[in-house]
Amino acid sequence: MQSLLNKKIVLGLSGGIAAYKAPELARQLIQEGASVQAVMTEAAQQFGTAVTMQALTGNPVYLSQWDSTIPNNMAHIELSRSADAILIAPASADLMAKLSLGLADDLLSTLCLARDCPLLLAPAMNKQMWEHAATQRSAKRLSEDGVALLGPASGFQACGEVGMGRMLEPAEITEQVIAFFQQKILAGKKVVITAGPTFEAIDPMRGITNHSSGKMGFAIARAAVEAGAQVHLIAGPCELETPLLATGQITRTNVVSAKEMHSTALSVSDCDIFFAAAAVADWGIAQPAKEKIKRQGNQAPNIEFVANPDILLDIAKAVKTKAGKPYPYCVGFAAESTDLEKHANEKRKRKNIPMIVGNIGPETFGSDLNQLLVIDANSSKKIATAEKLQLARQLIQLVAKKI
Ligand code: C5P
Repeated sequence: MQSLLNKKIVLGLSGGIAAYKAPELARQLIQEGASVQAVMTEAAQQFGTAVTMQALTGNPVYLSQWDSTIPNNMAHIELSRSADAILIAPASADLMAKLSLGLADDLLSTLCLARDCPLLLAPAMNKQMWEHAATQRSAKRLSEDGVALLGPASGFQACGEVGMGRMLEPAEITEQVIAFFQQKILAGKKVVITAGPTFEAIDPMRGITNHSSGKMGFAIARAAVEAGAQVHLIAGPCELETPLLATGQITRTNVVSAKEMHSTALSVSDCDIFFAAAAVADWGIAQPAKEKIKRQGNQAPNIEFVANPDILLDIAKAVKTKAGKPYPYCVGFAAESTDLEKHANEKRKRKNIPMIVGNIGPETFGSDLNQLLVIDANSSKKIATAEKLQLARQLIQLVAKKI
């Protein structure tokens, strides 16, 4: 799936060592379907070459507003007119200061002033420069002017220091650019999502779990952040990275057992939407052993199970009403081997939830693809096979309409 299909992005590079990441960023934007037109300041050309950017983008790179090869010599107007967004990565302290004042003394700054499209900046600088009152003033002014700041992040810097000012990684910037273009249909909403498997310990070394990869729950988390929500992702043991972490719109709590997932979910259930995407173990171990259970010949140990609390059921029981509407709006998931619609709908009624999503599969665990059946009290709607992120975006749209 290409999330930036048909988007025209002007990628501006200003002078900073993080310019070495710009070719990779261009490559990732193009992979997502965007066409990229690079513009480099004079300082940027000290850190990377126009030839690299040209080779990767397949477009000529603009370097000066005095380029006599452009027919009407209006590159700044032409470029910004056809663009869906201008993204500047790296955005240096100097460039941010200039843009915050509306200065236009080279092609890139002129382009920004003459633009008719959104402007996104990925700041990149040494931590002292970032923390300087002047840069903070520029950042504040730019935000007030509607410019989106992506990052910066904190971490190891090229100058050898550690702190705030590192440019986000190309993948994080790409993820945020994609998010930027999504409709903000959940702006101001709080969403809680359970995802992944749970792990029920038998002893310190062994336990019972399942094959859930967490991909569907994480895709829903990403789609919800893209839609503007504040998200709390409660994840069972899985290796997935938190989506869109740099936006500050997502909090992640890692849990292990169903009981832990239950108490965490209940503690944050004061939200607008609750997605129960986790494959929660139905049973836990009554008394996990404190020490490793030793093998005793051919005799298998007697392990006593206890039923785990039903997280979704308990959250649905505690639903409140705000402005005549129940909240949170609870969405459950069902994986069935037979009669999906019938069993899923029964489950929906039993748990007293307005919506349940059936995994049509066939390959659901671990796969990037799925097919869904979305069932509510009045209808059932199939969402055709697609990548989980695409399905999650469609699901978010359906739920947003409900609330
Ligand atoms: O009852 P069943 O496990 O089939 O229901 C599946 C739905 O209920 C899923 O949405 C799952 O996340 C949720 N669930 C839960 N807590 C449990 C068991 C299931 O939240 N203990």
